[in-house]
Amino acid sequence: MNIVISGYGRMGQIIEQKAKEKGHFIISTVDPIATGASNKFLSSDILKEADVVIDFSIPETALKNAEIVCSAGKKIVMGTTGWYSNMNNMQELVSTKGSAIIWSGNFSLGVNIFFAILSRASEIMNSFSEYDPFIHEFHHNKKADSPSGTASMMGDIVINSIDRKSVIVSEELKRQISPEELHISSTRGGSIPGTHLLTFDSPVDTIELKHTARGREGFALGAIKAGEWIMNKNGFFNINNMMQDIIKGDNSYDQS
Ligand SMILES: NC(=O)c1ccc[n+]([C@@H]2O[C@H](COP(=O)([O-])OP(=O)(O)OC[C@H]3O[C@@H](n4cnc5c(N)ncnc54)[C@H](OP(=O)(O)O)[C@@H]3O)[C@@H](O)[C@H]2O)c1
Repeated sequence: MNIVISGYGRMGQIIEQKAKEKGHFIISTVDPIATGASNKFLSSDILKEADVVIDFSIPETALKNAEIVCSAGKKIVMGTTGWYSNMNNMQELVSTKGSAIIWSGNFSLGVNIFFAILSRASEIMNSFSEYDPFIHEFHHNKKADSPSGTASMMGDIVINSIDRKSVIVSEELKRQISPEELHISSTRGGSIPGTHLLTFDSPVDTIELKHTARGREGFALGAIKAGEWIMNKNGFFNINNMMQDIIKGDNSYDQS
């Protein structure tokens, strides 16, 4: 696969390394400032030999980058976050220009497999009211926000599948928790890249499902896999489409 990397920051550089290890070709790295990038701006010239563009740049340029890529008839993996208020415009791009976009706020393959497991576990637990779910996450001491986006997504999965839970609470609780509330709590400290835990606790035992990231490589590997997946597809996709396709071997998401 011939890859153009758009955004040569921390993620762009890890993607370059991992893609080469997997035998892919990096035909260009695009970044207006970063040293080591081969081009400053995306253009149809750079894209000529490309199969896929993997974009981990900045929110302000995500839509414009996608437009350049789709106009050139190329596919794009959009890992950049923060552009989601433009979701309709991004979708519109694919309908007017053709081509394909796959986006996700979390391309980690492990996390997405974890989500699929949590979803099934929550479906099972919907029938067992003696098990009470709660979520805890750990991150390094530089993280600016809490709970993590991943923990919030885990909360949505639980709420969607377990009828007795309908409200996520993540603030410090100075009162007893209500039965319909799902608690997400956070710890900040050290260098932890990200650990997420879903616990189902009953009066007699505890079931714990845990994902532990060792670094940012998981995002890179998932984004490369998304590039491989989207290469022969047309349409607007989220990583959930890819996961369902791979898990079920079902190609019905291919809108080409
Ligand atoms: N979806 C996921 O799984 C996932 C995982 C990790 C991170 N992310 C997201 O990916 C993005 C990048 O993260 P990061 O940690 O790699 O950040 P980063 O180290 O700051 O890298 C972003 C790079 O993009 C460059 N850039 C700015 N304008 C550009 C343009 N027009 N075209 C191409 N590149 C441009 C930036 O240059 P300047 O320094 O000059 O601005 C910077 O070098 C963020 O939105 C982050 O939230 C997503």
